[in-house]
Amino acid sequence: MAINLQGDKAEQSFRVRCAECLDGGEKMEECLKKKEMAPTTKPVKQNQPDEPTKENDSEESDDSEKKFQSQLQMFIVTENVKWSDVAGLGGAKEALREAVILPIKSPHLFTGRRTPWGGVLLFGAPGTGKTYLARAVATEARGSTFSVSSSDLMSKWLGASRKLMMNLFRLAREHKPSIIFIDDIDLLCGSGDKAEFLAQMQDVRNANEGILVLGATSIPWTLDPAIRKRFAKRIYIPLPEECARSIMFKRMLGSARNTLTESDFATLGQKTEGYSGADISCIVRDAMMQPLRMVQSATHFKRVRGSVWNMPSQVVDDLWTPCSPEDPDCVEMTWMDIQDDKLQEPVVSMSHMLMCLSKAKPTVNEQDLEQFKKFMEDFGQEG
Ligand SMILES: Nc1ncnc2c1ncn2[C@@H]1O[C@H](COP(=O)(O)OP(=O)(O)O)[C@@H](O)[C@H]1O
Ligand SMILES: [Mg+2]
Repeated sequence: MAINLQGDKAEQSFRVRCAECLDGGEKMEECLKKKEMAPTTKPVKQNQPDEPTKENDSEESDDSEKKFQSQLQMFIVTENVKWSDVAGLGGAKEALREAVILPIKSPHLFTGRRTPWGGVLLFGAPGTGKTYLARAVATEARGSTFSVSSSDLMSKWLGASRKLMMNLFRLAREHKPSIIFIDDIDLLCGSGDKAEFLAQMQDVRNANEGILVLGATSIPWTLDPAIRKRFAKRIYIPLPEECARSIMFKRMLGSARNTLTESDFATLGQKTEGYSGADISCIVRDAMMQPLRMVQSATHFKRVRGSVWNMPSQVVDDLWTPCSPEDPDCVEMTWMDIQDDKLQEPVVSMSHMLMCLSKAKPTVNEQDLEQFKKFMEDFGQEG
C-alpha cells in the first residue's frame, strides 16, 4: 500500500511529547516548561571538580535533579530532519518504512499473526547517517519518539540508570504508538542495565503494544548475542554512492554563495568514492571557511556591488571584498579597517572544494568494510 509520507501529519509527528526523568511525570512537565522558556540551557556538566561527592540525601536529590535536567536535553528531539534530507540509502529507507513507520502509522495492519519486528537495528560504519536517518524516521512516523543515547542510560549513579530505562519504556507505553531510539546500543552490552533492557524488550514484544525499539551501532559484532537477538530486523547502512555524494555536497553547501555548477557537484561525487556522509560534511564545512580565511589574510580590497547581508533584496555598491594587489581598483588595507557590515566575503568555488578534498582522507577503511560484510553474511537480515 502507498503511504503518504509527506504533509501535515509528518510535520506534527515530530512534536515530541516526551522527556524522561528519574522522578516522574510532574517534574517532567515542570522541566519541559522550563526548557521551553529557556531553550539555551546547557546540559548540566557532571563531575564538576569542586563538587563534593554526594553523601547525604539532600545533595543526592540535588544531584539527581541536575542529572535529570541534563538527561532531559537528550530526550527532547528538537531537530526536524525530513525524509528527503537523507541522501541515497534507498534500500534502508524502504526497509524502515516497512519495519518502523508502517506499524506506527497503521497498527491495524499488524494484527493477528503479522506482528511488527519489535526491535530494528541500524548498523554501518561511523558517519554513514544512522543517527540522522533515525531522526528522519522520527519525523515521518506518527507517534512519539523517545531518543536516547546509551551513554545517557549508563549512569554512574548506581541503580539510577535502571530506573531511567524503566521510565523510558513506561513513558513510551503511555504515549504509544511510539518509537524508542537508542543510539550506540553497543554501549549497553557492558552495562548493568542490560538485564533491564532485555526484560523490557521482551515485554514489548510479548504485548505487541505499539512500541518499537530502534537501535543504532557502528560496531555490531560487539553486540551481546542476547541483545542482537532482540533486534531481529537488521538494516545495513552502507557508505553513500556517487549520486548520493553529489547530492550531499550540494545540500550541505546550501545557500552559501558559491560558483559551483551541476557538473562540479557531479565531479565531487565521482572523486569521493569511499567517503562517508560525515567526511563529506567536513569537507564542505572546511571549504565554506576558505572565503573567510581569504578575508583574514588579504592585504588588498576593492569596492564591489552586492546585497546587504541581512536584507538580500537591498543592493548597495560600497562593499569591500579581497582582491589581488595587482587589481587596478585595489586599496591596501586589512579586514580590520572595514566596517563590519561592509565586508563581502568571496564566494565558495570548486577550487576551494578540491583543495579541502585533497586534504581530507576517508575515515572508513577497507578492513572496516570487510567486517561489516562479514557481519552481514552472518547476521544480516535474519529474524
Ligand atoms: N545519507 C545522508 N544524507 C545526508 N546527510 C548525511 C547522510 N549520511 C551522513 N550525513 C551527514 O553526516 C552527519 C553524520 O551522520 P550520523 O548520522 O551522525 O552518522 P552515524 O550515526 O552513522 O555515525 C549527519 O549529521 C549528516 O550531516
Ligand atoms: Mg550516530
